[in-house]
Amino acid sequence: MTEAPPIDLNNIPKHIALIMDGNGRWAKNQGQHRLFGHAAGVESVKDIIKTSRELGVTYLTLYAFSTENWSRPSEEVEGLMNLLVEAISNEVDEMHANNVRLLTIGNIKGLPGNCYESLCKAMDRTKNNTALTLVLALNYSGRQEIINASLRAHELMQQSKISPEELTEETFASLLQTKEIPDPELLIRTSGECRISNFLLWQLSYTELLFTDTHWPDFRRDEFIDAIAQYQKRERRFGKVSEQIKQPNE
Ligand code: FPP
Repeated sequence: MTEAPPIDLNNIPKHIALIMDGNGRWAKNQGQHRLFGHAAGVESVKDIIKTSRELGVTYLTLYAFSTENWSRPSEEVEGLMNLLVEAISNEVDEMHANNVRLLTIGNIKGLPGNCYESLCKAMDRTKNNTALTLVLALNYSGRQEIINASLRAHELMQQSKISPEELTEETFASLLQTKEIPDPELLIRTSGECRISNFLLWQLSYTELLFTDTHWPDFRRDEFIDAIAQYQKRERRFGKVSEQIKQPNE
């Protein structure tokens, strides 16, 4: 690390989720095609993974392609899929060398064949890595994830493997694709929009939400560290009152 960040390294969120928005607007501002913005966005992805690894973030979830994104022009969808395959093939060695594990959420079987195969290969290669888990949300819908978990709960009840009384928040969470992943403490969305857009609907219940006007291609290390600093100033009450949270000497 080049300089000490203005943050408490003992209070780094374990899991940070990111809605990477604004690639298209960033490109348009420069008179460029939208895909130029997505390609620049890949550079931000690399920088944020590297910084997460340095700071000791253990899970980083990136909203890379939603089920709604299929309705974009086919040229853009195809370009995004190609960028993804290219980024994985270029970066998997370095990810592996840095002890980064790749996981996905969403229906990756619905992605183009070459994309699905390169993701499976990269996940298999990095499956025993332990420092940082990079979770790519691809062909992902938070509502669909909840429907799938509900169908699974129904199936388990029909097979008498669980009773309705046993369907607690914890059991339900174990039926989601994020079953082994702690809920994010912090969600960051770039580019000025203040909405969740069908991302991690169950998992974000108590997450701190942070919105920045910066377009994703300009969102780099310093602003990421600043976002963590802002998170550290917030008081997470989980429904309690302030006095119940504070330490006696505060
Ligand atoms: C949102 O910007 C961005 C996306 C839908 C795709 C994000 C993809 C990448 C950063 C590249 C590939 C990712 C990986 C993980 C290698 P937008 O197009 O909605 O921007 P706009 O709102 O300005 O139009």
